[in-house]
This record gives sequence, C-alpha cells and structure tokens, in this order.
Amino acid sequence: MELNPFSYEFQENPYPIYRWLRDHEPLHRNEQLQFWALSRFRDVLPSLVDWGTYSSSEGVVLERLDPKMLEATPMMISLDPPRHDRLRKLVSRVFTPRRVESLEPFVRATAVRLLEPLAAEGGGDFVKDFSTPLPMEVIFTLLGVPDADRRQLREWTDLALERDPDTPAIPARALEASLLQMRYWYELLGELRRRPNDGLMCSLFEAELETDGGTTRLTDGEIIGFCSLLGAAGNETTTKLLANAAVLFARHPGEYRKVLADPARLPGAIEEILRHSSPAQYAARTVMRDVEWYGQTVPQGARILLLIGSANHDEREYRDPDRFDVDRQIPEPLGFGQGVHFCLGASLARLETRVALEEFARRFPRYTVDENGCRRVHMSNVHGFASVPFARA
Ligand code: HEM
Repeated sequence: MELNPFSYEFQENPYPIYRWLRDHEPLHRNEQLQFWALSRFRDVLPSLVDWGTYSSSEGVVLERLDPKMLEATPMMISLDPPRHDRLRKLVSRVFTPRRVESLEPFVRATAVRLLEPLAAEGGGDFVKDFSTPLPMEVIFTLLGVPDADRRQLREWTDLALERDPDTPAIPARALEASLLQMRYWYELLGELRRRPNDGLMCSLFEAELETDGGTTRLTDGEIIGFCSLLGAAGNETTTKLLANAAVLFARHPGEYRKVLADPARLPGAIEEILRHSSPAQYAARTVMRDVEWYGQTVPQGARILLLIGSANHDEREYRDPDRFDVDRQIPEPLGFGQGVHFCLGASLARLETRVALEEFARRFPRYTVDENGCRRVHMSNVHGFASVPFARA
C-alpha cells in the first residue's frame, strides 16, 4: 500500500491505510513523492520532541514552501531553536493566558449571534454558517483586523491552503492567494503603525525581550509572518475540529447524550474529538542526520512525515482506538503536537470549541447530519469538512 496525502481517497478516510502502515511498514517510504513516514504512537511522539534530529526548517507540510518567502516573513512553526525560541518568547509576551481568557465573553456572544438564525431555521450548514465564521471572528478580533476586510482575508487564507488531487505542486491559485494575503498584512501593518488599535498586532510592535547584548524586538517581517501563521493555524484547524465534533456527535448520539447530561464531560470529550479526528494529520520534518528505523536508514536531508492522525489510532497505545469514547483517558495528547512547537493556540482552541459546543448543544440537543451532503476539504495536512448540512431532529 502507498501513502499519498494528496489523494482524495486518503483525505476521505486515512484510517485503513494508517492501520496497514502501522502493522506492515511502520517506517514507510514513498519513492514517487520522495518522503518517509512514521505511523506508530511511540515513534511519532519522541520524534516530534526531538527537534535537533527532526527539523521544521523546511516547513511542516510535505510540499516545499518558497524559501524566499520563509526568509522574508519567518514563522516560528518553520524555525528550529534558537531562532524559534526567540520568536515564541517575544510573541508569548503579548499572547498571554489572560488575553486568551478575556476572549471568552466575545467568543460566546459571537457563537450565539451565529447560532440564533440556525436555531430559527432548524438547521443549516454547520461549516459555512458556524464553524468557519466563528474562529475567523475570534482570530481577526484578537489581531485587530478591521471588520470590512475579514471575509476577503479569510477567503485568501482558505485558498492558499487548497491543493489539487494527487500532486504536491502548489496550485497557482493558492500561490496567488498567499501573496495577496501577505500584501494585505503588510498594508495593515503600515496602517496600524500610523493609527494603532488595541489588537494583538499593535501589542507585537511593543514586545521586547532581554538578550545578552540588550533588548530585541520583532521585525516587520516577523510580525507579518506571525499574523499570517495565526490567520491559517488559528482558523483552519479550529473550523475543522468543530465540524468533526458535529459529525462525531451525530454519528454517536449516545456519547452526545452523556455530554448533554453532564456538561463537565465536555473538555474530556473535546480531547477525544482531537484524538479521534485530528484536524492536523501530520507534521513534516527534515532529517538532520542519518537515522535508523526498523533496520533501514533514513538519510540526512530526507523529508519525513510524523503521522499524528495514525499515532492517535495506534492500537498499541489505545484500546479499541477507532471507537469514539468521550470518557477515554488521553495522558499524552498529540493533536496539538508536542515539544517546542506545541500549539501556541491550544488554550484558545480549547476555549473556542468548548464555548461553541455548549451554545450549540443548548439549541440542538437532538440533530442529524446529512452524511450524503457532507463534503471534505482537500488540504495538505488539514483533515475535515468543507460542508456539513444538519437539521434538528
Ligand atoms: C483545534 C485547533 C488546533 C489544532 C488541532 C492545532 C494543531 C497544531 C499542531 C499539531 C501544531 C504543531 C505543528 C508542528 O509541530 O509542526 C500547532 C502549532 C501551532 N499552532 Fe495550532 N492548532 C490549533 C489551533 C490553533 C490556534 C487557535 C492558534 C492561534 C491562535 C494556533 C497557533 C499555532 C501556532 C502559532 C503554532 C506554532 C507553534 C510553534 O512553532 O512554536 N493553533 N498547532
């Protein structure tokens, strides 16, 4: 069997191939696309942590990103320490737990505003009407993006991640959208330097870090890299997690009823949704020295996929891994990554998902999903739905 993350069949249901890989080729080689892949939990976890051997510096998706763009607008997700740590520390000065917590009332008000018309209609498209606009409003409000620009910016962000079937080549429309999006961030940065607002972008202008030789601040390119990273990382994945939750609860009404009966179970259920249907299916790395796996050598310089989605279904780690069980214990979650690149927005994603599902459950204690009407997204490492029609039952 062959793993091709760009095939529509894989994006529809990657789990049968993952199982085969774990059992037969725990180190897999795809000759045509020139990558290796690890699929077992106990192989993926330490490799995520070992940034010295498994470098993020050539990007964390399989397709090669433009090195010129990476250099002009560096993103922490594709930098190794120490450059990574400097950026992460600077950003963490202003992207604080308090700032995240303070967003809860806004998240709730936005969720309610989006859900009210759906409640009146008795249903709609969960993705288009709810799980897409909610994280977008949250991230863009956090960053301080003016209302009028949000829809266009979100469309560019979406388009920039789209991929054609069976090929790692980035389509022209995606490249163009990423350039337009970058240009937008440049213009906004100029505008906000002249007329600051109270968003995170303006706080980043001021963020400082003590170093041996004095203090360091973020460059304009670093601020733009961070905003565009958040535009993608903060929107796409949360949208997918929410819709995966809607589909899983509809498929498993018994599990949904447990959460409705005891809302204190919701945070645990969210961890299980992340495990069962991870929005981020893999993290790509570049191998920095020859490494041995299962009697084979992966040579220095090779690309390797750490298959988070497969590790999360590893029967060596989880009993009955394909079962969706809101009470499952998950001592070492992988859905937000691990190690130095552990998701910066994990607490925000957890907060948004909890609040969104609380408000959804209040209005839709019973609902069904039209499975035939569901459509998948075709993105490189992001797994989820582009459309989920649902209706009150
Ligand atoms: C359910 C939602 C989310 C999922 C599943 C998710 C998943 C991940 C994963 C797996 C990584 C590690 C990538 C790697 O090791 O190569 C990551 C990193 C990151 N995520 Fe998230 N994420 C989510 C939401 C968010 C949100 C809401 C934000 C921002 C507000 C965000 C910002 C980031 C950033 C900045 C990084 C890079 C951190 C670093 O390199 O130090 N993510 N995320």
